[in-house]
Amino acid sequence: MRYLTIALAKGRMAKKTMEMFARIGISCEEMADENTRKLIFVNEEQKLKFFLAKANDVPTYVEYGAADLGVAGRDTILEEGRNLYEVLDLNIGKCRMCVCGPEKAAEKLQHHELIRVATKYPNIAKDYFYNKKHQTVEIIKLNGSIELAPIVGLSEVIVDIVETGSTLRENGLAVLEEVCPLSARMVVNQVSLKMEQARISEIIKNMRRLMEKKESI
Ligand code: PRP
Repeated sequence: MRYLTIALAKGRMAKKTMEMFARIGISCEEMADENTRKLIFVNEEQKLKFFLAKANDVPTYVEYGAADLGVAGRDTILEEGRNLYEVLDLNIGKCRMCVCGPEKAAEKLQHHELIRVATKYPNIAKDYFYNKKHQTVEIIKLNGSIELAPIVGLSEVIVDIVETGSTLRENGLAVLEEVCPLSARMVVNQVSLKMEQARISEIIKNMRRLMEKKESI
């Protein structure tokens, strides 16, 4: 039997995903060691390989078939726009993609003024402003701490992830519009879904069952 390779986004989401996998009988002892610098983990018995990648790169590994399956946030899936199948909402890492800024920017948004939008997600921002709102804006790509942009005058608003909202509050910013809800999704390589249909369908089915159980508690 060939190995089934699973790509996970490094960090909190990988931990939660592995907890879910454990509950459907898929485990990887090697991965439990938190101090390890290893990048790839093998479960010989179940013929599974896991690797941890930077969140944005998970869809790339899956599209090219370097991973058969992956778990990534909907934010990165939308931003990357890769050719892959999104098969399951894992209901973890729930948050929202929002347009945020100081309250006074709300008016500029409403009047469709030519404003600057700073974001780590230029494709999501473009799609929202151009295709949904039909508003021309200038998009500025940043790589982190996006909330800084309107504070120091780089942009009027930002498009960013809001989870608890505390980063916004602590910086005098607010949610002005909601772009879309986000959560972790399971994605599958298009060829793998055909070639490894039995094993992959089994994983999806068991995960779905696990989530149904959780919801009923
Ligand atoms: C994300 C996001 C916000 C924050 C939202 O940043 O970009 O800054 O979390 O969370 P909250 O609503 O619970 O405050 P992250 O910590 O991933 O780092 P980044 O600044 O590098 O994007």
